[in-house]
Amino acid sequence: MSGRLQGKCALITGAARGIGLAFAKAYVAEGAKVAIADIDLKRAEDAARSLGEAAIAVSMDVTRQESIEAAVSQTVERLGRIDILINNAALFTAAPITEIERSDYDRVFAINVAGVLFTMQAVARHMIARGGGGKIINMASQAGRRGEPLVAVYCASKAAVISLTQSAGLNLISHGINVNAIAPGVVDGEHWDGVDAFFAKYENKAPGQKKMEVGEAVPFGRMGRAEDLTGMAIFLASPEADYIVAQTYNVDGGNWMS
Ligand SMILES: NC(=O)c1ccc[n+]([C@@H]2O[C@H](COP(=O)([O-])OP(=O)(O)OC[C@H]3O[C@@H](n4cnc5c(N)ncnc54)[C@H](O)[C@@H]3O)[C@@H](O)[C@H]2O)c1
Repeated sequence: MSGRLQGKCALITGAARGIGLAFAKAYVAEGAKVAIADIDLKRAEDAARSLGEAAIAVSMDVTRQESIEAAVSQTVERLGRIDILINNAALFTAAPITEIERSDYDRVFAINVAGVLFTMQAVARHMIARGGGGKIINMASQAGRRGEPLVAVYCASKAAVISLTQSAGLNLISHGINVNAIAPGVVDGEHWDGVDAFFAKYENKAPGQKKMEVGEAVPFGRMGRAEDLTGMAIFLASPEADYIVAQTYNVDGGNWMS
């Protein structure tokens, strides 16, 4: 079998479900080997098993430095190398400004921002030591493009991802490492079930109502599916994207233009 990522090895954080799992499936279909790294090891193991021999499960908590380092070295040991990193793990939270809890802020920034930075650092160190460059893809969001009244913390964390992508992209391209980001809009799945529950609480909506409204508002005509994002994730990991540096691409059915 030959594919666009034939022979490449990828580490994908938060890949036990949702968009990360769709990326893992798509990468395997393109000939890559994939480490499904997640805080939920049981689910990562089930996901890896469903993808066959090309996938392994790795326990990883992106908020803990020793866990990041262990996950990177375990992946290198078991797959041989890391050519591609997708920083995909993230947590959503919502609350009016007057009700934001410091503990919520700390947790979201530990996963969405510090997790992205220090995983990127650990993998970049490996890529630089090994030579030959690599591809790093960070998962941003339309939430990082502008604020939302009830979503200050998550929006700020995703704006930080866009900014980190710019700085790391400019810094690491001298080593042949491309750092870019994908900004999805609204993507159906367990993540959005959680988002919907926040809006049911704060906007007094019936369960499922917010989800329906955001889907209808997408210019394309429906919510995104995880599979809508895989084309960009494959492209950014391929040699065709070698000249693309420090960019964030909206893949959102037309929700945002920038
Ligand atoms: N779903 C959407 O509508 C949407 C929109 C824009 C951006 N995004 C972004 O896309 C990415 C994937 O989203 P999703 O919808 O698949 O999310 P999801 O919530 O379904 O999956 C997140 C995964 O991350 C894992 N995770 C959580 N904390 C972790 C930690 N500390 N260490 C390691 N793994 C951890 C979870 O176990 C889970 O498997 C995220 O970065 C998200 O912010 C999603």
